[in-house]
Amino acid sequence: MAIHIPEDTLSEIRNTANITDIISERVVLKRAGKDHVGLCPFHSEKTPSFTVSPVKQIFHCFGCGAGGDVFSFLMKYDGIGFFEAVQSLARRYGIALPEENMSPAQKKAVSQRQQLFDLNRQVMAFFVDQLTNQPSGQRAREYLEKRGFSKKIITQFGLGFAPDGWDNLVRFFRKLHISQSLAENTGLVVPRKSSGFYDRFRNRVIFPIADVTDQIIGFGGRVLDDAKPKYLNSPETPVYNKSRSLYGANAAKNKSRETGDVYIVEGYFDLIALHQHGITNSVATLGTSLTAEHISLLSRGFAQKAFLVFDSDEAGLKAARRSISLFMNAAMDAAVIVLPEGYDPDSFVFEFGTEAFLKAAEKAMGMVEFLVESSIRKNGLSMEGKVRIIADLQGPLLEIHDRMARSIYIQYLAERLNVNETAIAEKLKSGEKKVRRARSGNQPLPGDSRPPAEDNPHFVDSEMIKIERQIVSMMINSPEILPEIKKRNVLVRFSDKRLREIAELVLEHPVYGNEDLSRLMNRMTSPAHKDMIASLVIKDDCRDLNQCAQLLSQFMNSIEKRQNSLLSQIKSAQESNDEALLFELLKKKQEQSVNRLR
Ligand code: UTP
Ligand code: MN
Repeated sequence: MAIHIPEDTLSEIRNTANITDIISERVVLKRAGKDHVGLCPFHSEKTPSFTVSPVKQIFHCFGCGAGGDVFSFLMKYDGIGFFEAVQSLARRYGIALPEENMSPAQKKAVSQRQQLFDLNRQVMAFFVDQLTNQPSGQRAREYLEKRGFSKKIITQFGLGFAPDGWDNLVRFFRKLHISQSLAENTGLVVPRKSSGFYDRFRNRVIFPIADVTDQIIGFGGRVLDDAKPKYLNSPETPVYNKSRSLYGANAAKNKSRETGDVYIVEGYFDLIALHQHGITNSVATLGTSLTAEHISLLSRGFAQKAFLVFDSDEAGLKAARRSISLFMNAAMDAAVIVLPEGYDPDSFVFEFGTEAFLKAAEKAMGMVEFLVESSIRKNGLSMEGKVRIIADLQGPLLEIHDRMARSIYIQYLAERLNVNETAIAEKLKSGEKKVRRARSGNQPLPGDSRPPAEDNPHFVDSEMIKIERQIVSMMINSPEILPEIKKRNVLVRFSDKRLREIAELVLEHPVYGNEDLSRLMNRMTSPAHKDMIASLVIKDDCRDLNQCAQLLSQFMNSIEKRQNSLLSQIKSAQESNDEALLFELLKKKQEQSVNRLR
C-alpha cells in the first residue's frame, strides 16, 4: 500500500529520531572518528564493519553492503514496510502523521487494516478462552497434551479452540456490534447463500498467525480427529497474504539474528514442536510453497542461511527444484535437511530430541549437492543413469546465473559422475541457447527471475563498474561536477543499470545536504538501490574538481578502448569462424549501443 507522507513530516521524524540513537538501541556501537561502528546485525561477522554516520544520518555495512537511512534500518531490522517504519517512529516521538494528506481511500485502507488487527486480537482472546477455561475446550486440551505440547508453549503461541457449532463467532461479533463488512473481511465468517453468516472454523484447535510486528493477521485450525480437511486456514484478507507471511516469524526473529540461520518447516505443529525444543530460529510456510517474498523477508531481517526441513526425499526434491533459483538470486545460502522416512520435524524432535535435530542440521547438504545426490540415488550411475542425471539437472543448473558458482557446481557434478566437465558445460550451453531462442528477443518470460543482461555480472567488466561507482559517489558528494557529467553525456555509457538509475536521479535532484540525501533515498523503492547509495555516500574520498575531471576522462578513455578492442575481437572471431564467440561479442556490442540510445 503506497501512502504518501509529506517530505516535511519525514524530515521532522528523521531529525527527531537520531539514527545513532535508534541503532544503538539495537546494536552495540563504538565511536570511531566521526562515525560509529559495530557488529552488523544483518550478517554474522567477528570484526565490526557496520558503520553509522551521525553526520550524514545513514548507515552502511562494508561487509554485506546493507545501508540506508533510519527508515531503511528499521525496515530491515524489524522486517517491516516503509509506512510501518515511519509510523512506529512517529508514534514514539509523538509526531502526528497528517491524515489530511491521505486520500479518503488511503485513510480508509489504513483504518480498515487497524480495525482488522484489533478485531483479530479479540478473536484470538475468544478462542484462547474457549481452550483454557470452557468445558467445551476439554477435548482440545487433552489433544494438545497428548501430543506433548506444554502449557507454556500453548500460551506463548496463543493456541485456542473454536467450539463446535455454526455461529459461535457470529454471535461473538454481534455482541461486539461488528459491522457485516468488517466481520466478512476477517475471513472468519462465511456468507450463507440465503442471508447471514456461519463460522469458518468449527471444532478445531486454532493457531493465530502473527506478523513480524506481532499483529494478528490470520488463523489456522486443525481437527481433533481424522476428519477432512485436516487443516483450514484463513483466506487472504486485507491483512493476510500467504505468500508474504511466515508462521512463527515474530518468535524466530531474535534467535535467527543471533545465529544467522533459520529453519523453514511446513506445518504449524512442526514449528511449535521445534520452538518447544529450544530450536526457536524456525518459521513455517502456511500451506503454500516458499516464495521470493518469503526469502526476501528472511534475508532482510533474519538470517543469511536457510535450512529447509523436509519430511521426505521426494517432497524435498520437489521443493528444492522449485526454490533453487529463488535462493541463488536472493544471495541467501540454503541447505536441505531430510528427515528419516516417516518422520516430520514434530515427531522427530519429540522422539529423538534437540541434539539429534541439530546433528541432522550439521549434515545438511547444500541445495545443488542435494539435487545431485538425490538424482544419483534415483537414477543410478549406469551410463543411462548418468545421461538422465545430467538431463535432470540441466534446468536447475541453468537457473544459477552466477558464472563462477555455476562452474563450481558443474565441476562437482562432473566429479561425482566421472564425466568430462566441458561436456557438461557444453550441454548446458546448448540448453541455455534453446531457452534464449524460445524467447522472443530479449523479453523475459512472465515469472522469469533471470536478471536483465546488464545486471548479470558476466556481461560487465568489474574495472569499469569500479569507475562508475566512483563517478556516482562523486556526483553525490560533489554536486559541482554535475554540469560536466551532463555535458559529456557520461551516464549513457554506464554498463551497470543500477548505478545508472541512481546517477540519473542525482542529476535530476542534486544532493546539497542531508535533506536532499534522504529524499534521494526515499525516491528509491528498491532496498538494493538504497544499500548502494549509502555505500557511495559513506565512502566519500573527498576529491577536488581537478581530480573529478581526471576521473571522468579516465572513464571516457576506457570506454573508447573497450569499444576498439571489441571491434577487433569481433573481426578475429569472424576470421576464425568461432560462431559461439561471435554471438556473445555481437550481443555485447548490441547492448552497448542500446545503452547509448537510452
Ligand atoms: P501435514 O499434512 O504434513 O500435517 O501438513 P502436519 O503439519 O504434520 O500436521 P499433524 O502433525 O498431522 O497435525 C503440513 C501443513 O500443510 C498445511 C498446514 O499448514 C499444515 O501444517 N495443510 C495441510 C493445509 O493447509 N491443509 C491441509 O488439509 C493439510
Ligand atoms: Mn505432523
